[in-house]
Amino acid sequence: MQVPLLDLRAQYAPLKSQFLTAIEEVCDSQALVLGPRTEAFEQAVAQYCGAKHAIGCSSGTDAQLMLLMAMGIGPGDAIITTPYTFFATASCIARLGARPVFADIDPVTYNLCPASVEEMLKKTKNVKGIIPVHLYGCCADMEALRELASRYNVPILEDAAQALGAQHALGAAGAMGNAGWFSFYPTKNLGAFGDAGMVVCHDDDFAARLRAYRNHGMEVRYYHKFVGGNFRIDAIQSAVLHVKLPHLDTWSAGRRARAATYRRLFALHGLERWLTVPVEPWKDSGVLNHHIYNQFIVRAPRRDDLRAYLGAAGVSTEIYYPLPLHLQECFAYLGYKAGDFPESERAARETLALPIYPEISTEQQNYVVEKIAAFFR
Ligand SMILES: Cc1ncc(COP(=O)(O)O)c(C=O)c1O
Repeated sequence: MQVPLLDLRAQYAPLKSQFLTAIEEVCDSQALVLGPRTEAFEQAVAQYCGAKHAIGCSSGTDAQLMLLMAMGIGPGDAIITTPYTFFATASCIARLGARPVFADIDPVTYNLCPASVEEMLKKTKNVKGIIPVHLYGCCADMEALRELASRYNVPILEDAAQALGAQHALGAAGAMGNAGWFSFYPTKNLGAFGDAGMVVCHDDDFAARLRAYRNHGMEVRYYHKFVGGNFRIDAIQSAVLHVKLPHLDTWSAGRRARAATYRRLFALHGLERWLTVPVEPWKDSGVLNHHIYNQFIVRAPRRDDLRAYLGAAGVSTEIYYPLPLHLQECFAYLGYKAGDFPESERAARETLALPIYPEISTEQQNYVVEKIAAFFR
């Protein structure tokens, strides 16, 4: 049996005719960049996550970059974030000449640890933002982070690239802080037919500024108020994403059900003594925090051997992420060293992403878990 990490064709097939109709409409209109299709999709996402404004753009990376540009972030500024995330979270800070300042993660949720953030806030000058990443589709501890943000008077900018649709007691992922962004890279729960992203925010003036930054800093054509960029979204991507959006909650519920199936099967095979499975933080704390399982992550001893064993048995897995950002070659100039963020480093050594998507069958999940059990036997 082959079990891919993700099977995009299973999602595409039942909606194929709707996609082709939507794409044909864009082709017929020849309104190919931004345009009414994008405006309609932006409104739908704003409404979906409870943000006042949504600004579609070329990728999740460009969403973050343009947001930081519009905030005027640059040399001398510092932004606190996690080293256990996709590269873009920190690279967008560094590309603007500002300094990424890392704080360690909570070992249970893999998200920013508020106590570590506070330590960095105390010892860092010119902090212009805190970026929690709602990693794998589970929201960070937003109560604690919002309390810190208001005490230190620093904005919260949410990297919700992996978390559109995740619900938290304080609101939806992306819309709980001062601004947030999503990625629509094809592997995300809401994936485009290529690259696309979006910024959401609540402030009217900042939204207008973002729209200008998205389009070379123009408010009036060929009059450049700011040095922005070409961060525009294609109308075809907006059209495809708009077809998918009404299905997102069903797909996320499907992922949660598959996560529950993994838990049940792990228990059946007595695997809890080997594997640490993702917690559902809301269960113990009573706080709503609604994981959307963009990834299903386990910690496993002999992780690399397990991965090789599963690969040989036809089960695809992935390591998100093998080297934390503070230890990346390109960030050597920041002066961090191994041991600075022990939980991030341990997560990088121990975690493995198992196949998860709404259409994965129980037979496939059974096969994955049987192979894991066979490995540990
Ligand atoms: C946490 C995180 N931040 C940012 C990004 C960047 O998004 P994109 O790939 O759309 O540029 C990603 C996507 O891979 C991500 O997972």
